[in-house]
Order: sequence, then C-alpha cells, then structure tokens
Amino acid sequence: MAQTGTILSDEVVTLRRWRPADAPAVLAACQDPLIARFVPIPQPYDRASAEAFVEARRNDESGGDESGFAIVDAATEELLGAISRHGPFGHRALFGYWLAPGARGRGVATRALNLIVDWTLATTNVIRLELYTDFVNHASGRVAERAGFEREGVRRAWDLDRDGRPLDAMFYVRLRDPSDTTGWPPPER
Ligand SMILES: CC(C)(COP(=O)(O)OP(=O)(O)OC[C@H]1O[C@@H](n2cnc3c(N)ncnc32)[C@H](O)[C@@H]1OP(=O)(O)O)[C@@H](O)C(=O)NCCC(=O)NCCS
Repeated sequence: MAQTGTILSDEVVTLRRWRPADAPAVLAACQDPLIARFVPIPQPYDRASAEAFVEARRNDESGGDESGFAIVDAATEELLGAISRHGPFGHRALFGYWLAPGARGRGVATRALNLIVDWTLATTNVIRLELYTDFVNHASGRVAERAGFEREGVRRAWDLDRDGRPLDAMFYVRLRDPSDTTGWPPPER
C-alpha cells in the first residue's frame, strides 16, 4: 500500500499521489491510440473513465495491494503520466505505466520506473520485480531494460485484445540480488 502522501523524486520527475484535479489531463492523455492499444483502458475513454481512474488510484492509499502514482514534471508539476505497483504479493511485485504523448522520448518512464523500484526495494521485502509488455511494445521493453530489468521470456496468449484475439507477452524481471543463485541450478535427481 502506498503510504499516504508518499512523494518520490529525482528532481526531474516526481511521483506523487493522485488528485481529483488530475482527471482532465488523464482524459486528454488517454485519447492516445498507443495507450489504448497497450493498456486495458475503457474505450471510448470519457470524463467518467478519467474520474474513476483517479478515484481508484486515490483509494489505493487506504489499503490493498495497489500503489498508484501520478508522474509529474518536477519543475512545472505538469502531469506526464501514470505508474503503479501491483503488490507486493508475497515476494513479488508487478509494475505498469503510461506516458502522455508529449512526455515521451526523453527518459521520463525510465526515471519513474527507477523511482518506484528503488522505493520498493527500500521499503518492502520484495525479491522479484516484474513487468510485462505486449510482445511488439518495444519502447516499453527498452524502458524496462534501461531500469535494470532483464528479458525473461515470452508467455503465449497471455492477454486478449478487445476483439478477443490472443496476445503474446514479453516478461521482464529484476531481482533484488541478481548474484543470489541459492537453490539454482536445482540438484540433479
Ligand atoms: C512505453 C512508454 C511509457 C515509453 O515512453 P518513453 O519513456 O518516452 O520511451 P522512449 O520514446 O524514450 O523510448 C524508449 C526506448 O524505446 C525505443 N523505442 C521507442 N519507440 C520504439 C519503437 N517503435 N520500436 C523500437 N524501439 C522504440 C527508443 O529508441 C528508446 O530506446 P533507447 O533506450 O535505446 O534509446 C510510452 O511509449 C507509452 O506511454 N506508451 C503507451 C502506453 C504503454 O505502452 N505503456 C506500457 C505498457 S507495458
């Protein structure tokens, strides 16, 4: 659970809790076809969708397994995107993110992912950090790799698109201590 008021910043981007006033910027960003393609948001995405998203993320802070942050410009406070941690579920946590079209191509998602990963490593016992992308979402895969995640493998038909067609997912993993190979390889029988 996100601690109420948790703010994470590297002085270029800041992750802060969501505010009701963010809904119009979420509504504008989520008209983007790339977000609609790679993130399971409602279609069409209307004002009620944006308000429900912000309200749900604000409720993350009152308990449960979700920690959602608004990604904002540290200098101007402009809303740049969204990033969430799902979990911890035991020793695992999963991450997801999107950026408004105008915020792309300058390392914002990598910074945001690094911030939420560092916060997770510092404040939880999570060992396995993971995320997955549509197999063809190379930009998101590069963000993961730049934040220290390794390509783990493909899960076939992991998701369905809006028409019910199966989509393959590429999984990325980062371990708390990649040099810890305890128990691996397993003993031969
Ligand atoms: C994924 C996303 C957050 C990345 O945004 P970003 O941080 O601005 O990413 P960039 O545009 O800087 O690109 C990151 C890397 O991907 C590469 N890239 C970008 N578009 C690419 C493409 N179409 N094919 C291959 N590589 C691509 C860039 O060259 C860069 O690689 P580099 O580190 O080697 O320079 C953003 O594209 C987005 O919001 N997409 C829609 C929602 C989404 O896909 N969310 C993730 C769901 S898993």
